[in-house]
Amino acid sequence: MQKQPTTAARLAAAAKSILPNWLHAPARAAWRKVYAVCAEWPEVKLYLQLAWNRLTGRSYLRWYADTLDGWVESRDPEFLARKRAALAESGAEDLAVLKGFGLLPSSTLHEYGCGQLRSALHFVEYLDPGNFSANDASKGRIDLGLELFGSRINPRRPTFIVNADNSFDWLNGRKFDFLWCHAVFGHMPAADVEDTFANLHKAMHAKSAFFFTFDEPRLQIPDAKDEIVRIDARNWLQSIAFFDRIARKYGLVAEDVSGAIRPYESFRKHMCLARVTKA
Ligand SMILES: C[S@@+](CC[C@H](N)C(=O)[O-])C[C@H]1O[C@@H](n2cnc3c(N)ncnc32)[C@H](O)[C@@H]1O
Repeated sequence: MQKQPTTAARLAAAAKSILPNWLHAPARAAWRKVYAVCAEWPEVKLYLQLAWNRLTGRSYLRWYADTLDGWVESRDPEFLARKRAALAESGAEDLAVLKGFGLLPSSTLHEYGCGQLRSALHFVEYLDPGNFSANDASKGRIDLGLELFGSRINPRRPTFIVNADNSFDWLNGRKFDFLWCHAVFGHMPAADVEDTFANLHKAMHAKSAFFFTFDEPRLQIPDAKDEIVRIDARNWLQSIAFFDRIARKYGLVAEDVSGAIRPYESFRKHMCLARVTKA
């Protein structure tokens, strides 16, 4: 049986029959452009929103947090149960990594960008009550985490802070033995990452260690030359050279300690881990 032409093909044929020959090639090129914009529309919309934000002086972080807060996830009990199980399993590996670096129940730990409390659940259950605190730019993410794990987390007296600034002033001078920041910098523009490094000292004493994960461009794009590669509106690959350069600017040192996460499944193959200490 002969295949029926699609409506788009019929429209294209009609347009071709109306247009003079010399306009066929430019019309085809214009059509491809329109098609590409439509296919990429969700991403194009994000870039347009970002450009508008820049014009109106709204910060990238505020926009990012509002986007996350706008995600409404299902509250179907079965869906939540599946999510609870999957998140809890992967979070256990984050605790194992920090224990490998000397985390003890008596240590103090702050998590920067704790999201849905995937790892916070395990940190808080391991640490002595009151020794864990965390912040996130999205209230929606923390609220969802408390819905999933609140009955286990709340009795351990953690502190959760919702904010959209990288100043660390919201810690009111409290310093931590360990700081953890997983899958956060990859969603931040370079200026925001630098802001975080500039203020990190406010949360660190002389022996503190700040651990963060990152995606090294070279491991994903073999011929990548730049220290930072933007993947789309909300995702960047950033190299250890970039982090170490800004760390040194603020009296810190960043080193790649990725070997510590390689045995674990929840850390993607290309993900790296860095440790920042005072110089
Ligand atoms: C991919 S999620 C990772 C969440 C969590 N760290 C985990 O491992 O499951 C990124 C989180 O970082 C938060 N975030 C991104 N930039 C931030 C910033 N500058 N300050 C605080 N939170 C931030 C986002 O709101 C989001 O919840």
